[in-house]
Amino acid sequence: MKALVLAGGSGTRLRPITHTSAKQLVPVANKPVLFYGLEAIADAGIHELGLVVGDTQAEIESAVGDGSAFGLQVTYLRQEAPLGLAHGVLIARDYLGDDDFVMYLGDNFIVGGIDGIVRKFARERPAAQIMLTRVGDPRQFGVAELDPRGRVVSLEEKPVRPKSDLALVGVYLFSPAVHEAVSELKPSWRGELEITDAIQWLIEAGLPVESSVISGYWKDTGNVTDMLEVNRLVLEALEPRVSGSVDAASELVGRVVVEPGAVVERSRVVGPAIIGAGARIQDGYVGPFTSIGSGCVVVNAEIEYSIVLPRASIRGVGRIERSLIGHDVEVTPAAGAPRAHRLVLGDHSKVQIRS
Ligand code: TTP
Repeated sequence: MKALVLAGGSGTRLRPITHTSAKQLVPVANKPVLFYGLEAIADAGIHELGLVVGDTQAEIESAVGDGSAFGLQVTYLRQEAPLGLAHGVLIARDYLGDDDFVMYLGDNFIVGGIDGIVRKFARERPAAQIMLTRVGDPRQFGVAELDPRGRVVSLEEKPVRPKSDLALVGVYLFSPAVHEAVSELKPSWRGELEITDAIQWLIEAGLPVESSVISGYWKDTGNVTDMLEVNRLVLEALEPRVSGSVDAASELVGRVVVEPGAVVERSRVVGPAIIGAGARIQDGYVGPFTSIGSGCVVVNAEIEYSIVLPRASIRGVGRIERSLIGHDVEVTPAAGAPRAHRLVLGDHSKVQIRS
């Protein structure tokens, strides 16, 4: 069995972060979200992996390399444009050959691994097997309708009137039968080759499509709110460790990791929180559910429930909450009168200011 991980896409919901970097590399507890998926695949005993990449190929290649650090053999598959999840399968046709494969969306986060569902698939060998989870508002997801024994009867992308509360999770298992389905697809109204249409094609061809309902945690980290929520969840399981330096005037409370070379001075850090390698926290406060990236500076400032990417600096500002702050960003107070906000924001930035 092989794995196909989709790490291309346009990432519009995470702009402006995705103008300059891949959303799959946004860190969760200071580790790229993609790495959690790669680890789950290797843990399920799969070692051959095709990685579908787009414009951010160089960045993803430099993070993942040949995959050996994960126990994987990675082959990069370039998708010229984000033409849909099923298009990812189409361009991987030669790589996948006649093997079964697990398709994993590179920005999805699943607790509990995929070992169980991979074994179920290997045992039963349906044409396809999908993972489902119960959600409060199914209208924003792909939704499955099941027969009484759990076989999939129909699939619908973002339905106005959902037939169930079972949403598709970003992990799918396929036999080579999917290739014929994909080759027959026409682009949807949004111009993409939809994987739900490919699965619907298999159902209509009378082929077995099975499902497993997972009870574990799942999130698509495609937007900031979900990203922060996943960060919270991962930090909650953090093993406290201090490898950097913390002076006597500082206080660490609860689960806090201070990475090598990080310096905490005259500050209070309330966990769960992680302070990345070489970061400096001075006269500051870092509150629960915060990941401070490597080389960041937080001086005379307070931050909580946030993700700060490497080398950003935050100086002399009051409390920042529920924020995602990009690489090398500088946040400082505006000096002098008038008491106005001064902003230099990239395209598609989102700022919420208390006025
Ligand atoms: P999505 O989050 O569905 O799509 P997107 O990346 O275009 O994001 P947005 O909706 O914010 O614009 O993609 C799920 C995963 O699949 C993600 O890791 C990107 C990847 N992907 C591809 O590799 N190729 C594609 O053609 C598409 C649509 C997504």
